[in-house]
Amino acid sequence: MVAASEPKLIVVADAEALAQAAAERVVARMVANPGSIAICLTGGSSPKKLYQLLGSDAWRGRIPWDRVHWFIGDERFVPESDPLNNMAVARAAFLDRSAPSGHIHPIPTMVENPDESAAAYAHALQAFYGSDRLDPLRPLFDLVLMGAGPDGHTASLFPGYPAIEETTRWVVGVPKANVAPFVPRVSLTLPVLASCREMLFEISGHDKQPILTRLLDGETLPANRARSNGETIWLVDRGALPEGIRGPR
Ligand code: 6PG
Repeated sequence: MVAASEPKLIVVADAEALAQAAAERVVARMVANPGSIAICLTGGSSPKKLYQLLGSDAWRGRIPWDRVHWFIGDERFVPESDPLNNMAVARAAFLDRSAPSGHIHPIPTMVENPDESAAAYAHALQAFYGSDRLDPLRPLFDLVLMGAGPDGHTASLFPGYPAIEETTRWVVGVPKANVAPFVPRVSLTLPVLASCREMLFEISGHDKQPILTRLLDGETLPANRARSNGETIWLVDRGALPEGIRGPR
């Protein structure tokens, strides 16, 4: 058993600086791994600037595309053609332009129900990893991107839902979301998300101030329970910081 370390808080000026800092960390993890690299993306609005950056001419050349595999930590159970689909957002922003199509691993949503989707994605992850048991010394992902929702959820692990307690299954179906969009979800579970060298939260803007305050107060919410077995980073901008610790401008 690997003890999860406390998150490290890194504060930057604003959303632009946050995307730059996140892109530097993503690329640093790629540089550190000379073999096959696995990055787990996330949905919502928080990673959009980062995705645009990774797709820009300035950054594209820094990514060893032929060695990187792209996964997603949670998905809304809607077709890929739906603008709510998380992987479709990442594809449109940067993946489709540069990543080999066989290296993009979406959660399948054109199946009967979220449970079927979850089972299929667990199978895909296990095939990539080469085992259905996670070895603490061999992380599944180089980097897992995360966001924090207004209720403290992360991925599609909502407070008080059974999915947050799951320790056996790698991926679960979540019939009902706690926040908008109210579509069923499919989510990787905490132990699987933890199997990474780095878990990187992006938390930006004044709207995030209430939830970041609660998280920093140590409230037991999913976003506080999601920890890497390696390094956990909370990358936040000044707009999201609680008043008390915002400091001089
Ligand atoms: C999703 C996400 C989710 C997200 C948080 C934060 O599918 O919605 O993966 O976990 O990271 O809800 O969302 P925002 O970035 O939009 O605030």
